[in-house]
Amino acid sequence: MAFPKRFLNLPDYAFPRLRKLLDVHAPGGEPIAMTIGEPRHPMPPFVGEVLAESLHGFAQYPPNEGTPELLAAISDWIARRYGPRLGPERIMPLNGTREGLFDACMALCPETKGGKPPVVLMPNPFYQVYAAAALSVGAEPVYVPATAATGFLPDYAGLAPDLLDRVAVAYLCSPANPQGAIAPRAYLADLLGLAERHGFTLLADECYSEIWRDAPPTGALEVAAETGADPERVAIFHSLSKRSNLPGLRSGFVAGGPQSIARFRQLRNYGGAPLPLPIQRVSERVWADEAHVEENRALYHEKFRIADQVFSGLQGYRTPDGGFFLWLPVEDGEAAALKLWRETGVRVLPGAYLAREVEGENPGKGYIRVAMVAPSEEMQRGLIRLRDCLYG
Ligand SMILES: Cc1ncc(COP(=O)(O)O)c(C=O)c1O
Repeated sequence: MAFPKRFLNLPDYAFPRLRKLLDVHAPGGEPIAMTIGEPRHPMPPFVGEVLAESLHGFAQYPPNEGTPELLAAISDWIARRYGPRLGPERIMPLNGTREGLFDACMALCPETKGGKPPVVLMPNPFYQVYAAAALSVGAEPVYVPATAATGFLPDYAGLAPDLLDRVAVAYLCSPANPQGAIAPRAYLADLLGLAERHGFTLLADECYSEIWRDAPPTGALEVAAETGADPERVAIFHSLSKRSNLPGLRSGFVAGGPQSIARFRQLRNYGGAPLPLPIQRVSERVWADEAHVEENRALYHEKFRIADQVFSGLQGYRTPDGGFFLWLPVEDGEAAALKLWRETGVRVLPGAYLAREVEGENPGKGYIRVAMVAPSEEMQRGLIRLRDCLYG
């Protein structure tokens, strides 16, 4: 059998890798899962009711581009959150952001750039979908370190100009998974300037945008509007998975320039699966409600207060500005995850599984990622065991 070569170097996904590492050993205590970023706070209380009212919609094929009501609810949310008011031609509902982040390369990455193979930039470590998306279109993924030395954001502007000229799209995750860094306004403005000078599109993965500590993170779209950037230079990706604790609903959106969105829509018309009508109806209501989002954020505030207490005085510990992960420094993430599991039953992800080795360096190697999703008491027990086992 012949299979595509372009995915040969794609490592196993992080979670099967983790199972291989840990599951051959018995846990050293009551297992506590702090690996996967699956929110476990309550979902909005009205979801069931809206779904029940809209069940008849399962009997129809749903519109690919989204119902006018859902597009209006998303547009209202963007206007409330970021300022700009977008027309429906600039928004496309997605089955969660993962789908859109993957399809983005297919929709937007040209076959060549300046006569050469195109480059897709991504931070390193990163959400693994970006790399698979780049490889799926035969582009060259370039992994740009996002480490303590760069404020945990990629320094794209520091890349060589001839490489930048080959860039077709650049992914950015803010708040960042796994480090929790938030791109400041000036960083975004500079990056949009770089995109304009080198002719690439910024794909801003903002799916953790509503989970923040001190102030709502600035969005790429709002900076694009403020700086008068070409609307085609940026697409933002948002989701109800983290904002509203609905990862199983599979609902999000991409918003960008009208030409980019037209390309997304066309592709999806051929090969995509539009959101079922009842899910569109539920999503519409969820985007319109902020009360549950505030409650959710308050629960995370409490969790980070606990983490700050547990790790107070630990060298290298910092409260992430956004998102719900701790990115903790250790000597070797894989060895630490294994020790922790075998001695305490706490399960965390080695940072290296979220990053790529470039020139012999894996920028995730000296870290573990800890998801703060379990109920507060369980999470606190897990963090104390982790501290005593790895830093005691
Ligand atoms: C950085 C990042 N982007 C995108 C996603 C995809 O989320 P969803 O497809 O549920 O919107 C995740 C999920 O964990 C993520 O961590």
